Amino acid sequence: MRETFGSRFAVIMAMAGSAIGLGNIWRFPYLVGEGGGAAFIIVYLIALVFLSIPILIAESVIGRKTQSGTFGAMEKLAPGTKWKWLGLLTVITPLIIVSYYSVVGGWSIDYLFKACTLSFRSSSIDSIGSMFTDFSSSVWGPILCHTIFLGLTCLIVVGGVKGGIEKFAKISMPILFLLIVLIMIYSLSLPGAEKGVEYMLKPDFSKLDGKTIASAMGQSFFSLSLGVGTILTYASYIKKDENIITSGLGTAFFDLLFALIAGFAVMPAVFAAGIAPGAGPGLVFETLPYIFAKMGAGSPVVSAVVSILFFLTILVAALTSSISMIEVGTAYLVEEKNMTRGKAVAVLFIGTWALGVLCSLSFGPLNGLHLAGVTLFEFCDKLTSNYLMAFGGLLFTIFVGWKMTKKSVRDEITNDGTLKGNSRLFPLLYFLIKYVTPIGIVVIFITNFLI
Ligand code: TRP
Repeated sequence: MRETFGSRFAVIMAMAGSAIGLGNIWRFPYLVGEGGGAAFIIVYLIALVFLSIPILIAESVIGRKTQSGTFGAMEKLAPGTKWKWLGLLTVITPLIIVSYYSVVGGWSIDYLFKACTLSFRSSSIDSIGSMFTDFSSSVWGPILCHTIFLGLTCLIVVGGVKGGIEKFAKISMPILFLLIVLIMIYSLSLPGAEKGVEYMLKPDFSKLDGKTIASAMGQSFFSLSLGVGTILTYASYIKKDENIITSGLGTAFFDLLFALIAGFAVMPAVFAAGIAPGAGPGLVFETLPYIFAKMGAGSPVVSAVVSILFFLTILVAALTSSISMIEVGTAYLVEEKNMTRGKAVAVLFIGTWALGVLCSLSFGPLNGLHLAGVTLFEFCDKLTSNYLMAFGGLLFTIFVGWKMTKKSVRDEITNDGTLKGNSRLFPLLYFLIKYVTPIGIVVIFITNFLI
C-alpha cells in the first residue's frame, strides 16, 4: 500500500512545510526590496490569485488522481506521448533548485552557529554587514555548511514520508510562525521603522517594469513550490476523501502570511539600519543580525535566545522545503528506475552537492564567471523560478485544462460530486485553469523577452 498523510492537518502542514521556507523568509524580502516595495507586492498578489492558485490546484488534481510521482502520473494519464518530458523536466528543475537552495540553507547553519557563539553582540552596523560578505565569499566555510545542509536533507528523505517529513513539519512550522511574529513586533518597534512600513504599503509604480513583473510571478511560483511537481507528488499522498481545494487554499494562505510577516520583520530593520533595500540575496542575513544586536544592547539573554531559536527554525523551514525537492527525484528513481530509497537519495546527493559547490563559489572565487550576464548562483535561481517553473506551471494547466476530460477534473476536485462547495466553485476554477493562467504566463513570457 502506498503511504498517505495521516490527517487533514498533516496534509496542510506538510504542503505548507514544502511551501514555506527560504522563499518566504530569505527570497521574498530581498525581491520586495529590489522591486520597489508595495508595487512588487501588488503584482505578487495578482500573480498568486490568477496564476499560482490555479496551478496549485491543477497539480493537486493530477497528483491525487494518479497517486504517483510526476513521471508516473504522465505515464498513467497520457501514456506514450510527449507529456512524459514534462515529467522529466519537473524532476530536474527541483534538483537544480536544491543545489543553490542548499547553499543558502548552509548560510543559515553558519548564522545559527554565530548566534550560539553570541557573535551578533557587536552593534556596529558595518561589521555586521561585512560579516555576511566575508563569510559568503570565502571558500571552505560555506561549502562545509552546504554539505551539512544537503546531508541532513537527504537523511530525512531516506526516512520516508510518515517517519521523516510529516513528523518534522508538524512540530516546526508552528514554532517558526511564533518566532517570526515576535521578531516582526520587535522590528516594528525600532526607531525609524515607519519608513519600512511605508515601503511595504505605499506603491511606487514607477519601479514597475517587465522584469519586476516576471520576478514577482517567479517568486509566487517559487514560494508555493509550483510547476515542478513538488505539490503534485505531495498531493499523491493525500487521501481520496480529503478536500484538495481546502488543502490548496490553506497552503497558499499560510505561505502568503509567512512572506508578508517576514517582509514586515525585515523592511523596518532595513531602514532603521540604513541598509539599501535592493541589497540582494544577502539582505536578510544583513538585517536580522542588526535586529539581534539592537535587542542585545537592551536584553542580552532575550537576544541570544531569540536569535538561536530563529536561525534554528529557519533551518528547519529550509529543510522541510529542501526535502520536498529531493523527494520528487527520489519518487522518480524509486518508482521508475526500481532503485532503493537509499541508493536513489545517494545518487541525488552527489549530483546536487557538486552543482551547489559551484554556486557557493560564485559568491567568491568564481564571482567573475558569468552565464547570460549573471553569476552561476543567480543563473540557476533565475533560470528555475522565472523560466522552468513558469514553463512547468503552464504545461500543468494546459494538461488539466485541455488534455484531461472536464468530467475527470470535476470528479477529482469535487470528490465525485460529494463536495457541494467545490462543485459551486468548479466553473470558476476551471475557467482560470483552462484560459486565464496559461494565457497570463505566455503574455508575461513574451513581454519579458520583448522588453
Ligand atoms: N517553496 C519553497 C520556499 O518558499 C521552496 C521550494 C520547495 C521549492 N520545493 C520547491 C521551490 C520546489 C521550487 C521547487 O522556500
